Amino acid sequence: MLALEINNLTKDYTVGFWKKRPVRALNDLNLQVGMGESFGFLGPNGAGKTTTLKILMRLIYPTTGEAKILGCPLDDMQMRARIGYLPEQPYFYDYLTARELLNYCAKIFGLNKAEALKRTDDLLKRVGLFEAADKQLRKYSKGMLQRAGLAQALINDPEVLFLDEPMSGLDPLGRREVRDLIAALRDQGKTVFFSSHVLSDVEALCDRVAIMNKGCLIESGKLSDILKSRTNELEAVVTGIDEATLNELQVFATQIVPAPEGAHVRVQSDKEIEYVLSIVHRAGGRLVSVNPVRESLEDLFVREISENAKVAKQAAS
Ligand SMILES: Nc1ncnc2c1ncn2[C@@H]1O[C@H](COP(=O)(O)OP(=O)(O)OP(=O)(O)O)[C@@H](O)[C@H]1O
Ligand SMILES: [Mg+2]
Repeated sequence: MLALEINNLTKDYTVGFWKKRPVRALNDLNLQVGMGESFGFLGPNGAGKTTTLKILMRLIYPTTGEAKILGCPLDDMQMRARIGYLPEQPYFYDYLTARELLNYCAKIFGLNKAEALKRTDDLLKRVGLFEAADKQLRKYSKGMLQRAGLAQALINDPEVLFLDEPMSGLDPLGRREVRDLIAALRDQGKTVFFSSHVLSDVEALCDRVAIMNKGCLIESGKLSDILKSRTNELEAVVTGIDEATLNELQVFATQIVPAPEGAHVRVQSDKEIEYVLSIVHRAGGRLVSVNPVRESLEDLFVREISENAKVAKQAAS
């Protein structure tokens, strides 16, 4: 069984006051996510990520197409009890405390009083809000609200989690904590479908990704397959070398980027690495690391989206 199946999903919003016209926010999206996968839904602003998630959550209806979660149609109430959702901008009744909010959500899901209290406490600890649990939400910072939202999404111990930009509004520490939380959920076997434009988060967490742009899916698959490895190129990070040694290395390198107290030296293959190493060692320097050169997700993002724009331009002219 698939955790999520999206078939030919299209959404037109109607815009304009006097002259109403449709604007396509999502164009014929097809996507499948397996059970237990952590799936990154990527794309720049306006790509259609939130629109997709809102359709899946039945906050809006698609113009055409359909989707299934856990093999069930979107309006299946039993299925809905098995999923969790963190909206892009969680909006809570902010005179409640986080404890009250979670307790309330737990009861909606049918937990009895004791279970609800226990689950609330566990989740408050898990998202790092235990100390602030009895503060009203209106006194929370953006990051704290985001954590409250995450706790709310987890209240029913969902099998599939839909998170719309879960790291947004968080400082680096908060980001790391949410990242670890998602990793722990994934390790527990939960399916996590999350949108983001923060590529490093996705890179660290996802088995597979889909890249959206202007409502269209432009690429999907395993990250390692999507990120092109550039032939056999290797990059050595070396330290403790002087200018003269750097010049000597130029002969073998395809690219040298100086770094504090050393350099990043790129070479064609492992043969050149041997030359680089012997020069560095002779000069009294030290090898820090050697890694294959891979395209970063950042590069991919820029490449895909600019290629897409080029194709669109050609088609228009
Ligand atoms: N209620 C609405 N009415 C009209 N157009 C809308 C509405 N909501 C979204 N759109 C448009 O649909 C497109 C997709 O928006 P969406 O919010 O799904 O993008 P997103 O990928 O979530 O972007 P972001 O990264 O900024 O959150 C955008 O062009 C947006 O302007
Ligand atoms: Mg969005």
